[in-house]
Amino acid sequence: MTYEMILVETPAEGVGLIRLNRPQALNALCNQLMRELHDALAAFDRDPTIGCMVVTGSEKAFAAGADIKEMVNTPFGEMLMGDSVSDNFVFNYHKPIIAAVSGFALGGGCELAMACDMIVASETAVFGQPEINLGILPGGGGTQRLTRAVGKALAMEIMLADRRLTAEEALRYGLVNRVAAPEVYLDEALKLASKIASMSQVAVRLTKDAINRAYEGTLAEGIAAEKRNFFIAFATEDKQEGMTAFVEKRKPIWKHR
Ligand code: COA
Repeated sequence: MTYEMILVETPAEGVGLIRLNRPQALNALCNQLMRELHDALAAFDRDPTIGCMVVTGSEKAFAAGADIKEMVNTPFGEMLMGDSVSDNFVFNYHKPIIAAVSGFALGGGCELAMACDMIVASETAVFGQPEINLGILPGGGGTQRLTRAVGKALAMEIMLADRRLTAEEALRYGLVNRVAAPEVYLDEALKLASKIASMSQVAVRLTKDAINRAYEGTLAEGIAAEKRNFFIAFATEDKQEGMTAFVEKRKPIWKHR
């Protein structure tokens, strides 16, 4: 598949990397870019040689938001019925996705990072939801995911008063996993992705699914889902291999089955 607005690589074994590549617009998320991103994520998700995906932008901007120039003349009816960018922030992928964020992660950029499963930030990262300045509100999950990540009071301030978070603040408030220098943040994200890709893909899939239940449903539903996935794991070859390898004091050889 050829893409115009993203670059796709496999920089390490088991790791799929997607770079947003619209530098002239600070990676503003237009419809085409979001479509290409989803095509590339879906392709990696289907690829049995890939165990984890990383989405990154440039050093200056992860993404400066949904494309305002595209939205400025979009009428209500088209927004409702068309291929709206705000339809694209539900990520139903089985494999974990890490956002490697440097520079601006504003509006849809912040929402895109939060739609991923983990965030590794550069010291220069700035997170915000400035839609209020445009007379609108976040439409890609921001009011929901940011509130769950940082709590109601701070989420209100970020979305009502355009408060922006530095990388260190984002770490303190639980929005990101870790912060690294701008020269190494992507390497850090790739290292984390490699570690995840070295695990049993079936165990990774069942674990990600169970964690998402904690995030999305009630405690009782989540515990039931975890129990079901835990029992499913006992039906896999990788469970047998993982436990046998421990007992035999050797490294497991995963079959991802
Ligand atoms: N949509 C469309 N184009 C965007 C954009 C967006 N969300 N964000 C930046 N761009 C474009 C700019 O219009 C500019 O294009 P031009 O050179 O044709 O004028 C180019 O990207 C560079 O941006 P610029 O504003 O000149 O860079 P800066 O370093 O001075 O400022 C920002 C960077 C991120 C602070 C500023 O671009 C900004 O506020 N962007 C909008 C953020 C936002 O409101 N996001 C939520 C959208 S829902």
